[in-house]
Amino acid sequence: MTEQKATNITWHESSVSKEDRAKLNGHGGAVLWFTGLSASGKSTVANTVDHKLHALGKHTYVLDGDNVRHGLNKNLGFSAEDRAENIRRIGEVAKLFADAGVVTLTAFISPYKSDRDAVRELLGEGEFIEIYVNASLETCEARDPKGLYAKARAGEIKGFTGIDDPYEAPENAELILDADNKGIDALADDVIAFLSEKGIV
Ligand code: ADX
Repeated sequence: MTEQKATNITWHESSVSKEDRAKLNGHGGAVLWFTGLSASGKSTVANTVDHKLHALGKHTYVLDGDNVRHGLNKNLGFSAEDRAENIRRIGEVAKLFADAGVVTLTAFISPYKSDRDAVRELLGEGEFIEIYVNASLETCEARDPKGLYAKARAGEIKGFTGIDDPYEAPENAELILDADNKGIDALADDVIAFLSEKGIV
């Protein structure tokens, strides 16, 4: 648990309710939490879903690991502790976006189950949708778009997820994407089909 340091602070309820915002947008806020190995396709699928939902007139936004680590989380590395703080901050930001009525897509490796579950706890029932972008290490390593797996194998990067750092696959994901066998467009369509089936968008 992160320590509450500030004292003498009071929570103010917003005068515009969640329901008011959903009515205006035509849909409620939610967090689509994409998790998977580096190069599994998380960012690409999330961005394709974002594009498709936007074209359908939905209010969406993508929070992406590599991008967020250039700004908000630039002071964090890849130790288990820093990854936990990375995910905690993103979880809080995603919750604010969802409160604002936005369908928020996040693309972070988020290798630890406990970190992902903590974000789930932050959000309301049905608001956190865990999407496991299931690509095997073999697939991800063969793709290696940033050359990071090669560096990790050569010992030039220490603690790389899947090589010498753990990835705990989700056990109860709302949706599992077959990223070994399907292309980006088909995976994005699987996500959209799930969202409309559940009445999320
Ligand atoms: S997480 O584990 O804290 O969720 P995050 O998704 O933010 O990771 O960042 C992962 C990205 O950082 C990878 O896609 C890769 O480009 C880069 N990266 C650099 N070092 C590592 C590492 N040791 N392990 C995993 N990814 C790394």
